[in-house]
Amino acid sequence: MNTSTIASNSSINREIEGYSSSASIIRTLSLTKVFPSGSLSSLLRFSHNGGGRAVVDNLNLTVPRGAIYGYLGPNGAGKTTTIKMLVGLLRPTRGTASLRGYTIHDHLREAQRLTGYMPDTIHRFPAMKAIALLETLGQYSGLDRSVARSRALDMLSWACLDGQNVLDTKVNRWSAGMQRKLLFIQAMLHKPDILILDEPTANLDPVARREFIELLNKATNGGFAKDWRATVLISSHDLPEVEEISTKIGFLNHGKLIAEGTKEILRWTIKQATHEGTTIFVVSGTNLIKIVKEIRDRLDATVSTTPRDKLIVSTKHANDFFNTVAGIVANHPDVTITDIAQEEENLESIFLKLEKLTRVRDECGERGLEKKSKVKGE
Ligand SMILES: Nc1ncnc2c1ncn2[C@@H]1O[C@H](COP(=O)(O)OP(=O)(O)OP(=O)(O)O)[C@@H](O)[C@H]1O
Ligand SMILES: [Mg+2]
Repeated sequence: MNTSTIASNSSINREIEGYSSSASIIRTLSLTKVFPSGSLSSLLRFSHNGGGRAVVDNLNLTVPRGAIYGYLGPNGAGKTTTIKMLVGLLRPTRGTASLRGYTIHDHLREAQRLTGYMPDTIHRFPAMKAIALLETLGQYSGLDRSVARSRALDMLSWACLDGQNVLDTKVNRWSAGMQRKLLFIQAMLHKPDILILDEPTANLDPVARREFIELLNKATNGGFAKDWRATVLISSHDLPEVEEISTKIGFLNHGKLIAEGTKEILRWTIKQATHEGTTIFVVSGTNLIKIVKEIRDRLDATVSTTPRDKLIVSTKHANDFFNTVAGIVANHPDVTITDIAQEEENLESIFLKLEKLTRVRDECGERGLEKKSKVKGE
């Protein structure tokens, strides 16, 4: 980090200290991450960032004490990058953040001690049994070995992972759903004030997702320990799920926080920002992916796909909707539609509108090319 960045961070640190007495538990101030960019065109276009690309751009978000903050945004929006900066795995290029008043520049160790972090992926789980692994990780988080062991046993039993055959099997042989729960348990083991969960339900089947959400609800409602209620930041793509559990929502797009607030405030904001008259349809069926482009083109619609083989279509041409879709499907014998429902304004539709409003044309598909390759089950 150069001297001018240090200077600006010191003044930001002073400023952020002023928030430590407020009810915000997580706060970012102009948090920015610039990654070096490979192509010549991007070097020229992003020269104001020293030839790099700001994937998190002047982010100011606020998570109140006791909130479940849903951190939403499309692929590549910068959610994981934000989270990695918050937990000290990436160094911000500019700006800073505080966790319960501890800034990540000056008091990272303290901030980490009061945070439980669940990463979005673990490429390789160790060949260890769960209790031994949790004992070791608990000690890293400052717990005595015996406390870590007894908490591990409690939490494994709480998550229904305490069968003898499960405990005797090394965790690298566990199913994806079991491994996710294990990651969640390791994040909670030291009963941290803050839980930061990066797409905790990715790769889970619907039953495991539901179980996971129930665990999270218990954790945040004192269902696990009466003396402990965490503040949660959770990134997710499953918008209905986030809508169900979050008390505050932030939408990130192209590294910028484009909206933040309660669901009610977001609904109101979007009503102000968009033209009235857009209708949302939820289309269920099979092979729907094949008709996305035609629906988008012919109804001038925004279309999003969901993991449950549904399309969410936002269009101003509601009157033409049924006839147009029927006409499109008639030309695709392998596509079937089982249901079309007209939706109330929900989080997903709000998100679609916000995304459309702030969409930046990506020249030459650059964003796609620069997206790091990773395996996702979405
Ligand atoms: N180490 C890196 N070097 C260069 N670019 C990176 C690096 N890590 C992430 N990026 C880029 O930063 C952008 C934001 O990535 P990030 O993983 O934060 O997004 P995300 O919102 O978590 O996406 P997803 O929903 O797919 O998990 C992407 O375009 C990605 O390619
Ligand atoms: Mg991510």
